[in-house]
Amino acid sequence: MMDRKRVESALNVVLGIAIVVFGGIAAKTYYENNYQPKVFEQPEFHAAPLYKVEAKVPDATDPEAEVQADNPHATFDPWLAEHFKAPVDLQGDAPADWTEIEASLSPQSCGTCHPQQLAEWQTSWHHLGMGPGMMGQLVDAKDGMVKACQRCHAPNAEQYPRLKGSEEGATYQDNPSFDSELRTEGLTCAGCHVRDWTRFGPETETHALGSETPPELLEGETADSEWVDPNEGLPHNGFVAKGAYQEAVFCERCHDFRDGEGKVLEEKKLQETYQEWRRTDAAAEGQTCQTCHMPDGAHTFKGIHDKEFVQTGFEATAELKRLGDKPLEPLEAELTITNVGAAHRMPTYTTPRIVLIVEQLDQSGAAIDGTRQEFMVGRETTLSLSKEVYDTRILPGESRTLMYSAERAESATGLSARVEVWPDEQYRKNYENWLSTNMYGDEGSAILKEAFDAATDSRYIAWERSVDLASQ
Ligand code: HEC
Ligand code: HEC
Ligand code: HEC
Ligand code: HEC
Ligand code: HEC
Repeated sequence: MMDRKRVESALNVVLGIAIVVFGGIAAKTYYENNYQPKVFEQPEFHAAPLYKVEAKVPDATDPEAEVQADNPHATFDPWLAEHFKAPVDLQGDAPADWTEIEASLSPQSCGTCHPQQLAEWQTSWHHLGMGPGMMGQLVDAKDGMVKACQRCHAPNAEQYPRLKGSEEGATYQDNPSFDSELRTEGLTCAGCHVRDWTRFGPETETHALGSETPPELLEGETADSEWVDPNEGLPHNGFVAKGAYQEAVFCERCHDFRDGEGKVLEEKKLQETYQEWRRTDAAAEGQTCQTCHMPDGAHTFKGIHDKEFVQTGFEATAELKRLGDKPLEPLEAELTITNVGAAHRMPTYTTPRIVLIVEQLDQSGAAIDGTRQEFMVGRETTLSLSKEVYDTRILPGESRTLMYSAERAESATGLSARVEVWPDEQYRKNYENWLSTNMYGDEGSAILKEAFDAATDSRYIAWERSVDLASQ
């Protein structure tokens, strides 16, 4: 028979071990949760599809939509549906009495009389859109691919080497009106402004909507009324004023895919900038794409490639949380950015990444190997577009934070927190992949190598702070 005391003391021993073991585990977990440096991983976050975000402005993309005169952002001009046909019809013969510069589609010709628009547009990505990244892929491309890509990048029929008639069973033929120089100019003045040699543009103080046609005569009125032709005596017979030039829907055809166009991943189209914009307070307050991207009519169309412009889109803050100078304690900091100025997701397309970076610095200010952590803001898909890897793009008013936690390096005397912009990142990865497999042959690869270098060089720092750890 067992003696009671021995049983009790045996139990105490077991209990003691249990306390040591479980207490140890608890302490370890506490340490892991609170002090252990975490290995940073890009979150597998997938931003919600747009139908979950309330629309603030009615959809003006539907040709059947009713025109609402009291809401400028619901105006759909049926003319617009025709305007951005793919490709835009050949202009045909210019009026016989026009001078050579009036009858030319070349942006340089337009620029003889519209020098400011030309100078601004030449710096824009509308002009640069037929650069090496595109041309490398179009070497030996099938006609259907050329059509699909040039619809946004170089939409005028005169820019297509081959064209297909509209009749049933028509095949692609060499295009006698092909202008190879015009092709490399990208989305030109004519792409947005000229159809059948008629210029279209926004209304002006002296040229109101509809004023280019005489008003219908009422009964008893004679034709010698007040009407004055605003185009009288102007070069290229003046222009037709259209309200759409000052509407966001003017940009929609190329900055949004419609239902059924392109891939849909996680219920989101590859590009839906117009639909994003419709859901913002800025849109409800009357700010259009033109308000931000064409201030005072500027044809610069600044975007993700322009540092000062991107700086208007976000606010950043960095905060040091733990110095990491005590035993077992990691160095911790937070870097947060908020979308305060882009009236769509930031960034809106799959190509760019906005990268939050924190890393430790040594006395000379150089980054210490192995201490860097980066949080990608953007939408990453697999290169084959089969799957969304993450979507951390930021709706207006939302924020993203990199929570930095790492062991403090012995030589660390400072911490750098910065926001870098990699405007062409998704394409840079594509180019790298295509070059490694020689997917576009020797000729294509030589051009794509240029695109790869340009995409690597386009990175810049948009915001930066460094903290001196020694003085804290
Ligand atoms: C010989 C000079 C000349 C050339 C060349 C020329 N334009 Fe014009 N354009 C004018 C003038 C003058 C007006 C009227 C300006 C006004 O009413 O403010 C005008 C008006 C316009 C307008 C309407 C502006 C508005 O306020 O809505 C557009 C758009 C336009 N031109 C586009 C072009 C394009 C595109 C080209 C080249 C394909 C071109 N123009 C070539 C002289 C020219
Ligand atoms: C006919 C098609 C088309 C229309 C219409 C169009 N765009 Fe674009 N836009 C493009 C293409 C193509 C690119 C990309 C070019 C490239 O990067 O190769 C682009 C690029 C841009 C960029 C990105 C610049 C950057 O730094 O990356 C901005 C901003 C932009 N467009 C604004 C506008 C606005 C505002 C409107 C309406 C007023 C508009 N676009 C209308 C085709 C179009
Ligand atoms: C619906 C309009 C649209 C179509 C169609 C389209 N693109 Fe683009 N593309 C854009 C816009 C907008 C951007 C710029 C996005 C940005 O600046 O972030 C762009 C950017 C690019 C870029 C990176 C910038 C550059 O010029 O180096 C390349 C390359 C490109 N497109 C190639 C293509 C190819 C190839 C096709 C056909 C398979 C195509 N695009 C079809 C609108 C379009
Ligand atoms: C992506 C389409 C696009 C391209 C490309 C484009 N424009 Fe425009 N243009 C517009 C829009 C939109 C407006 C109206 C802007 C506004 O009023 O806010 C405009 C306005 C104008 C005006 C009226 C005055 C003004 O600046 O508002 C002229 C003139 C003009 N454009 C000429 C040109 C010329 C010349 C080129 C080529 C060098 C060109 N545009 C290229 C879209 C375009
Ligand atoms: C309130 C100002 C504002 C309005 C309105 C706005 N944008 Fe932007 N847009 C920005 C800012 C700031 C950026 C730079 C940061 C970024 O890329 O999101 C930008 C970037 C872009 C880019 C660059 C590529 C990318 O992936 O971000 C494109 C393309 C673009 N805008 C198109 C549009 C179109 C089309 C509309 C209208 C439907 C529009 N924007 C309305 C401010 C605006």
